[in-house]
Amino acid sequence: MTEPSSIVRRLLREIMFLFKSPAAFRILQKIRADKLTYLEMPALIDLYEAVAVAESQQIPGVLVEAGTALGGSAIAMAAAKRAERPLWVFDAFEIIPPPSERDGSDAHQRYALIQSGKAVGLKGAPYYGYQTNLMEQVAQNFTRFGYPPSTHRIHLIKGYYSDALRLDQPVALAHLDCDWYDSVMTCLERIVPYLAVGGRLIIDDYMHWSGCRRAVDDYFNGRTEGFEFVMKSRLHILRR
Ligand SMILES: C[S@@+](CC[C@H](N)C(=O)[O-])C[C@H]1O[C@@H](n2cnc3c(N)ncnc32)[C@H](O)[C@@H]1O
Repeated sequence: MTEPSSIVRRLLREIMFLFKSPAAFRILQKIRADKLTYLEMPALIDLYEAVAVAESQQIPGVLVEAGTALGGSAIAMAAAKRAERPLWVFDAFEIIPPPSERDGSDAHQRYALIQSGKAVGLKGAPYYGYQTNLMEQVAQNFTRFGYPPSTHRIHLIKGYYSDALRLDQPVALAHLDCDWYDSVMTCLERIVPYLAVGGRLIIDDYMHWSGCRRAVDDYFNGRTEGFEFVMKSRLHILRR
């Protein structure tokens, strides 16, 4: 059960953000009302604010999201960025790949349900992974919110990370929301070497999926120097 004190903290966070950035608050509320994200409001606010900080501190580099589903969290990133800063969005844009032996039973049970065809999406909506034109839908969702990919330097890249996730430039901020050990580990291996000084990783699933946590712990084992680990509504890792 959620602690009353944590409910109060969440509400205060939302109220403070509403007063500070009312227009952004409405965008984030609409993302959630349209059932485009699994992130709760505090996590969406933290993500939006982290991108806004990267902009105000002029951290060099592109923005990356790995794990997009219907596009909700990526739209929050687009809302906070300058139109000129590229946002690279990587996803299978189809059913998620299977977990491996490095994931726990939580991931294997979830994947068995997805594979059975019986997974249900947000608030009873159809599960996004079963949709055949997911990438087009996500592009339309960006456009509907006022961020057409073609004019806002938003690049949607379809494929598994092992094939599709390749970078060759600095990264100011990366939001990793891809659940399983191998997916998270591939993202860390391919993104962290490019993370700019002052840049940030946000790990969505550190507290949610056993494989994600294990991948982050394995990757940073013995190489935490130069990084600061901050637990907000999600785990933020800052490059110093
Ligand atoms: C929980 S969803 C992302 C949710 C989204 N960020 C939101 O706002 O709700 C996880 C996504 O990661 C993607 N994913 C996981 N592993 C992947 C991989 N190895 N390659 C490509 N996509 C992957 C899945 O296809 C899925 O769309």
